[in-house]
Amino acid sequence: MSKLTQISHPLILHKLSLIRDKNTGSKDFRELVEEVAMLMAYEVTRDLQLEEVEIETPICKTKCKMLSGKKVAVVPILRAGLGMVGGMIKLIPAAKVGHIGLYRDEKTLKPVEYFCKLPQDIEEREIIVTDPMLATGGSAADAITLLKKRGARNIRLMCLIAAPEGIKHVMDTHPDVDIYVASVDEKLNDNGYIVPGLGDAGDRLFGTK
Ligand code: PRP
Ligand code: URA
Repeated sequence: MSKLTQISHPLILHKLSLIRDKNTGSKDFRELVEEVAMLMAYEVTRDLQLEEVEIETPICKTKCKMLSGKKVAVVPILRAGLGMVGGMIKLIPAAKVGHIGLYRDEKTLKPVEYFCKLPQDIEEREIIVTDPMLATGGSAADAITLLKKRGARNIRLMCLIAAPEGIKHVMDTHPDVDIYVASVDEKLNDNGYIVPGLGDAGDRLFGTK
């Protein structure tokens, strides 16, 4: 059974309110999305394995902890997921980045795949899928299915804002995938947009509307 974690740190919620504001322009929107992704990354990576290593400080030898085990891959769902990558790799610079291109058909709201390029050793990596918006959940669920077809096994999903419908869809389709969000919003509207949400994340990030 997948676990839903809502990360409601005051800094995250403050920045999320600025992101939601329709008067926030693309430059600030991009910076804020990256900052929130970086803050969320602390919680999303909380259970990464550590190993004891011996190092030498200027004073003496000592044992301390470093990351061990599986290496990380960050996999943004294009386009909007890209906005979260900078924040993630600032914290995890050794992470590799895969890309999955999906867009939601405006009429059917079903995701359409147009690109997939993943690290070769994807099956050995701890994967963090990023997308600011989890609306119907179709895009995230399809991206995870695609990753599993390529051999990926350890997958978590990280979104800024989720609708209850999207959370349920991903949990039902991929019960092995834990979901991390900053906010669970009220609902979807008739056009499949999250209410209150932030509008179209891709367009706001890249200034395409
Ligand atoms: C948005 C968003 C998600 C998807 C969420 O992308 O970034 O990928 O919609 O909707 P869903 O949960 O109902 O599938 P969009 O399709 O607008 O593409 P874009 O990022 O290129 O703008
Ligand atoms: N995609 C977005 O960018 N925003 C929504 O509210 C729903 C899907």
